[in-house]
Amino acid sequence: MKKTIANNVVAITGASSGIGRSTALAFAGEGAKLALLSRSRSKLEAVAQEVRKRGGTALVVPTDVSSPESVQAAVDKVVSEYGRIDVFFNNAGKSFVGRADSVDFEDKTREMFETDYLGAARMVRAVLPIMRQQRSGHILNMSSVVGRKAFAGFGGYSSIMHAIDGYTSALRQELKGTNIHVSTIHPALTQTPLLADARPEDMPPAFRSLSPIPVEQVARAVVRGIRRNSARIVVPWQPRLLMFAEAISPRFGDLFVELLQNRVFGRVSGTFRGTTYQHELG
Ligand SMILES: NC(=O)c1ccc[n+]([C@@H]2O[C@H](COP(=O)([O-])OP(=O)(O)OC[C@H]3O[C@@H](n4cnc5c(N)ncnc54)[C@H](OP(=O)(O)O)[C@@H]3O)[C@@H](O)[C@H]2O)c1
Repeated sequence: MKKTIANNVVAITGASSGIGRSTALAFAGEGAKLALLSRSRSKLEAVAQEVRKRGGTALVVPTDVSSPESVQAAVDKVVSEYGRIDVFFNNAGKSFVGRADSVDFEDKTREMFETDYLGAARMVRAVLPIMRQQRSGHILNMSSVVGRKAFAGFGGYSSIMHAIDGYTSALRQELKGTNIHVSTIHPALTQTPLLADARPEDMPPAFRSLSPIPVEQVARAVVRGIRRNSARIVVPWQPRLLMFAEAISPRFGDLFVELLQNRVFGRVSGTFRGTTYQHELG
C-alpha cells in the first residue's frame, strides 16, 4: 500500500546542501513538515526559506552528527516542536577519493566512518525510541552505488557505504513487525559539491565517461521509495546492471566498471550524456 506523505514529519540530515536540500524541497512539495539538520545554521536557514516560499513548514536544527550530545539534542528539539518523526533520512556525509596507499587514507577513512556511518547509527539510536512509541516510522539510510560495487580510488568511501548497507540490512530485520520501515538508497554520481575537493587524477577512470545525475532525480527517487516502502532504492536504473554483474562474479563487476569508461557504451546505456563531473565543477 502506498504511504501518504502530506503532514508527515520528515527529518533530514545534511539538509543544507546537495541531495539533502533537494529532498527537503521535494517533501515540502508533498505537504510534509520538514526538520532540517546539519552543522551550518545559515545554510539551513536559506533552505528553510525556500521551503516556506513553496508554502511548506521547516524547522532549522543545527546538528553535528559526529557528536552524541548534538544528535540527542536535535531529536529532542524536533519532537518538542512537532511531537513526532515519521520519516528520518540519514543523509549527512563527507567523502574522500584516494587510493589505498595514499598518505591520508587512514585519517580520511576514520573521519568518514565517524560522520557517515557512526553518525547515521547514532541518529537511529536517538530516533528509534520515538518511532517505537509511535508504533510507526520510516528510516532511510544513504549509501551509494559504490556501497554495492567499489570503484578504484573509492576504497575508503566505498567501504563506509558498504558498511551502511550492511547495517541497514540488519536494522530492517531487527525491526520486522514493528511498523518501522527501513530502506537504503544507492545513488550514482550526482551533481553536488561532495567531490569538489577531490583531485582529478585520483578519480576513477570511469568518472571521465559518466554524467552526474541531477539532485532532483535523487530527491524524486527518495519520495517515491518512501511512498512505496522500497527496501532498496537505486537511482538511476543502470547501476542495477552493475550490481547484477558483481553478484555473478567480482571479475564480471570489474569488467562492467571498465565498460563504463567506453563513451559509446555510455551513450547507448544513458550513463554518458556529454558532461562529466569536471564540467559540473567548472
Ligand atoms: N554526490 C554524489 O555523487 C553522491 C552519490 C551517492 C551518495 N552520496 C551521499 O549523499 C549524501 C549527501 O551528499 P551530497 O552529495 O548531497 O553532498 P553535499 O552537498 O556536500 O552535502 C553533504 C551534507 O552533509 C552535511 N554534513 C557533513 N558533515 C556533517 C556533520 N558532521 N554533521 C551534520 N551534517 C554534516 C553537510 O552540511 P553542513 O556542512 O552544514 O554540516 C551537507 O549538508 C552523502 O552521504 C554522500 O555520501 C552522494
